[in-house]
Amino acid sequence: MGRHVATTTHPGPVLVAAGCGGTGRELASYGDLSALGGFVTRTITLRPRPGGPQPRVVESPSGLLHAVGLQNPGLDRFLATELPWLVRAGARVVVSIAGETVAEHAELARRVGQSPGVAALEVDLAEPDPTDWGLVETREPMASGLVATRIVATCRRELPRDVPVLAKVRLDPLRVLDQALGLAEAGADGLVVGHSLPALMPDGRHAGLSGPSLFAVARRCVAEVHAGLPTLPVIGCGGVATAEDARAMLAAGAVSVQVGSAMLTDPTTAHRISAELAADAAAAAESTGAGTRVGEALA
Ligand SMILES: Cc1cc2nc3c(=O)[nH]c(=O)nc-3n(C[C@H](O)[C@H](O)[C@H](O)COP(=O)(O)O)c2cc1C
Repeated sequence: MGRHVATTTHPGPVLVAAGCGGTGRELASYGDLSALGGFVTRTITLRPRPGGPQPRVVESPSGLLHAVGLQNPGLDRFLATELPWLVRAGARVVVSIAGETVAEHAELARRVGQSPGVAALEVDLAEPDPTDWGLVETREPMASGLVATRIVATCRRELPRDVPVLAKVRLDPLRVLDQALGLAEAGADGLVVGHSLPALMPDGRHAGLSGPSLFAVARRCVAEVHAGLPTLPVIGCGGVATAEDARAMLAAGAVSVQVGSAMLTDPTTAHRISAELAADAAAAAESTGAGTRVGEALA
């Protein structure tokens, strides 16, 4: 499968991360969704979820603490309303899913795969506190690691071949390559390397921590996976807020980046980074072209 995901599914290397672009409608007034490499939906579950109690998002010196609780309208409503809107808006839609059982993942993948306009499926295997929300426990020890590979193999089987399966994994630099090897063998077409880290809200509730403090760890995880599995497309996610961050993530081996909590501070972040990287590419093409012309003139 090689870098297929990068070259045919993500024309640009900047995507909006799951849960950080709302339904897409909120972002559309800040920029054309079709100009981005992709839009990852909030995580969709089979049944609707009302989400956790307020406050759900709290700023902290080390980043954003959040406990949204996977609020989403459930699969039926998502497929009837949010997905068609995103497709009409020209977004390359990556649908994020999570389930309570392997069988639920199968149903989610099958029905998402039957829907027109889906660019890829992203399986959320990295919720900071999956059991709080009744999701399958995909953490170590080994037995749970096997659940993650079963989920990915099941999703791969249920989807049309031309819809890639991306597995979203935790920021654990010491184990991420082992996990990547298992998931690639199970049929993952690419990996999204990083999610929020498990943390606590000031009031003691479980939360996820996102933002700048994740960046160096996410980059390390990308580098670990890229070193061990150089042909597996890896999308870096964690603390990307500037074009410089994105360039550094790409230099570590990522084929694309996802921008998460930075979108909550400035909803134009993904578009700005995307435009800066496109300018880099245009400048590189220009200098190559100039070099060729000089070479031709001297020949
Ligand atoms: C408010 C908020 C909601 C999120 N919701 C989801 C979600 O529904 N599914 C998911 O896989 N990740 C979710 N995430 C995690 C992000 O997609 C991303 O993996 C994480 O925040 C790390 O990236 P960042 O440092 O750029 O924010 C959410 C993050 C935030 C801040």
